[in-house]
Amino acid sequence: MTETERATGKSCWLASVPERPLAAPLEGDERAEVAVVGGGIVGVTTALMLQRAGRSVALLEASRVGHGVTGGSTAKITSQHGLVYHELEQRHGREAALRYARSNQAAREWIERQVDTLGIDCGFERRPAYVYAEGAAQVPSVEREAEAAARAGLPATFVRGDGRFPFEVHAAVRFDEQAQFDPVRYLEGLVADFVAKGGVIHEATRAIDVERGSPCTVVTRRGEIRADHVVIATNIPFLDRGGYFARVFPYRHMAIAATVPAARVPAGMFISADSPTRSFRTAPWTENERLLIVVGEAFPTAAADTVQRLMELETFAAERFGTAAPTFRWGNQDYYAADRIPFVGPLVPGITRIRVATGFNAWGITAGTAAAMILTDAIAGRDNDWAPLYDSRRIGWRGGARSLVRKNVAVAAGWLAERIEQAPPREPGSLRRGEGAIVSVSGKAAAAYRDQDGEVHLFDARCTHMGCRLRWNIAESSFDCHCHGSRFDVRGEILNGPAVRPLRRLDRR
Ligand SMILES: Cc1cc2nc3c(=O)[nH]c(=O)nc-3n(C[C@H](O)[C@H](O)[C@H](O)COP(=O)(O)OP(=O)(O)OC[C@H]3O[C@@H](n4cnc5c(N)ncnc54)[C@H](O)[C@@H]3O)c2cc1C
Ligand code: FES
Repeated sequence: MTETERATGKSCWLASVPERPLAAPLEGDERAEVAVVGGGIVGVTTALMLQRAGRSVALLEASRVGHGVTGGSTAKITSQHGLVYHELEQRHGREAALRYARSNQAAREWIERQVDTLGIDCGFERRPAYVYAEGAAQVPSVEREAEAAARAGLPATFVRGDGRFPFEVHAAVRFDEQAQFDPVRYLEGLVADFVAKGGVIHEATRAIDVERGSPCTVVTRRGEIRADHVVIATNIPFLDRGGYFARVFPYRHMAIAATVPAARVPAGMFISADSPTRSFRTAPWTENERLLIVVGEAFPTAAADTVQRLMELETFAAERFGTAAPTFRWGNQDYYAADRIPFVGPLVPGITRIRVATGFNAWGITAGTAAAMILTDAIAGRDNDWAPLYDSRRIGWRGGARSLVRKNVAVAAGWLAERIEQAPPREPGSLRRGEGAIVSVSGKAAAAYRDQDGEVHLFDARCTHMGCRLRWNIAESSFDCHCHGSRFDVRGEILNGPAVRPLRRLDRR
């Protein structure tokens, strides 16, 4: 197979959701009690909860609701976040593990209630969740996790075999009463309720700044929204204030979905404790078939051969489940917090009218819903037991100081190296159709892409966020930034923030 045959596209959720007309982009200025920026699970859930708390809410989304990280998620609705409870106990103590567990359980239950009461058709299915140890080496960590999770009050059991394992494993920790769904249809269900009750959504409207004040002003290129409170739910805050770029780190994953023979359908949701991580579940597809969704290990954005990663996932799915070539291939990324706890709360100490939520460690379906509860309670003036654990004003180094320092040093070193490095030798003329690369133009680095008609498009190779050198992502045909995770398509448009400006086009002369 060639690289182009392994090209990625939309996730299975985004490719199959019914078309909805675009919610009208912002035109001119508006006023709301709360402006929520970002239409993923955090933004949509927060907007709906605040509306139910009696606030007038306007939601701004740069592209389409659900088309961000949420739309590429594996979408397990679970409090089982890998082997997190043992780690939380070690780093932050038992009370922290307990709060983390309670907040995620409450989020899981809230999601289930919405699906039920709003009648959302989103393939919601209850399933047990497993972290399994295929090799003997990981058995002790799985056993420790089962004990820590049980101490945190979760329905966790250490199992050596319960007849549900899809292949031979040594042991696993099983969480009962967990679930899975289609995250995009779920968000569409929440959006329908929000809009029906008078909520305002503007899609294709990117916020480029937020001015602090009373009210605050959310600035876009199409107008401004003045609001008493602003929630930045853009996965990573796009504002420089708060230093989030040095506290959470972008990691990408490749994913595939393929129809799976009926006899090989795994009876639950699974993630490996062994490396490389494999996370999988199934979803309803046709009348007689289910889709197997497999997500691979995390790698720092712009630092891996994405085609190779996809090939490894395809081999895993074929060998373990007898799948043929995947129907869907995609990539997705989330931000990881060094101390394993998301940051939820004020943008910076002392500014309580602008709030953020980030660093979900690839578990934001529940943690993002819990974040929405915390943000809503704060704005509605209600106490929230979990808020101190997630407080965005903490530095975020506890138990993660070494990795925090290491990652920041790596970003800084990469940034410096790029400034002294010679421009790469490749010439734009050497690009094949459909190929991109960082090339040399008059001795300077440029991001270049040759389209299917043979025309070469050239852009400044510096990320518009803080100027790091972009890298070409083969499988996803994008220019990615390793510093803080911004990504751009072959037209230079933003795929992932924190950047708020497209790439600068270069004159080909
Ligand atoms: C491969 C993978 C698998 C995962 N699987 C699971 C799982 O099984 N279970 C689980 O719990 N979690 C999972 N997660 C994590 C979970 O999907 C995310 O944590 C969660 O979806 C993040 O939601 P969000 O609202 O923060 O971000 P998003 O969904 O990305 O929403 C942010 C939105 O903000 C918009 N935006 C960005 N900048 C601006 C701007 N300047 N102005 C306006 N709008 C803007 C974006 O377009 C986007 O729509 C997974 C993550 C990955 C990467
Ligand atoms: S994302 Fe920050 S420099 Fe590129």
